[in-house]
Amino acid sequence: MKTINTNNETMIKVENVYKTFGKKGGAITQVLDGANLTVNKGEFVSLMGASGSGKSTLLYLIGGLDRDFTGDISICGTSIRKMREKKLSKIRLGHIGFIFQFYNLVQNLNVEDNILLPSLVAGRSRASMKKELDEILEITGLTEKRKQMPSKLSGGQQQRVAIARAIISNPQIILADEATGNLDSKSGAEIMELFRKINREKGITILQVTHSQKCAEYGTRTVVLENGKTVDERASMWLPSSHKPTFQELEGRLATSMSRS
Ligand SMILES: Nc1ncnc2c1ncn2[C@@H]1O[C@H](COP(=O)(O)OP(=O)(O)OP(=O)(O)O)[C@@H](O)[C@H]1O
Ligand SMILES: [Mg+2]
Repeated sequence: MKTINTNNETMIKVENVYKTFGKKGGAITQVLDGANLTVNKGEFVSLMGASGSGKSTLLYLIGGLDRDFTGDISICGTSIRKMREKKLSKIRLGHIGFIFQFYNLVQNLNVEDNILLPSLVAGRSRASMKKELDEILEITGLTEKRKQMPSKLSGGQQQRVAIARAIISNPQIILADEATGNLDSKSGAEIMELFRKINREKGITILQVTHSQKCAEYGTRTVVLENGKTVDERASMWLPSSHKPTFQELEGRLATSMSRS
């Protein structure tokens, strides 16, 4: 059964999204304040911004993990806001791979079983997954570790298991929330190389949240979340905190910087 329009080149579209936390009558935090974001097929976008600026919130909304917002979010051309939970789960399982900062591995399952778990839960048989499993273990450099338990792995290796688990179902989109936040810079760079590889070779669209400029640079584009809105990185770097320039001013600055280079 076809659940989603996969021909659309726009993979993620966030339109005028407002998100608040808190109850009526109590303190209300306005986290997203008219946020917009478009991610096209094959892009590898880095989402940056200060702690508390709403990056994780936005990622959860895009992944359909929280649907309490106003505005609209579409995945592969299909709006998820009013979608029935069953259809949304299907999209989540079939089209989106999540990677979080803490690897969320099942400690009493070995590497292979951790990677296979979501597919087995979704009804695939172990035998039918063999070829994919071998390929993913190879891509993520875990072939030698396939029978190891998570507690015997380094942080970087555990994160690779989480990535393998996210990509084995061949998702079109990977949402990663500080996938390297917990790793030393060498392991972090390895994970970023792996992201770049799956983005280029498997054509998977990636949206990653990161605090690291270095990690962000592995992506094809950086977007910054500021004051509840997304801003293009270039524009953001020029924003003095006391003054938000008009579009015309930004255009002028862009023209000046281009004439200098
Ligand atoms: N469940 C919640 N209930 C109430 N407030 C929340 C909840 N989740 C997040 N917030 C608030 O929303 C704001 C944005 O949080 P969010 O986790 O999205 O930030 P972030 O940009 O991911 O920060 P960090 O870089 O520290 O991970 C924060 O002020 C946070 O306190
Ligand atoms: Mg966060």
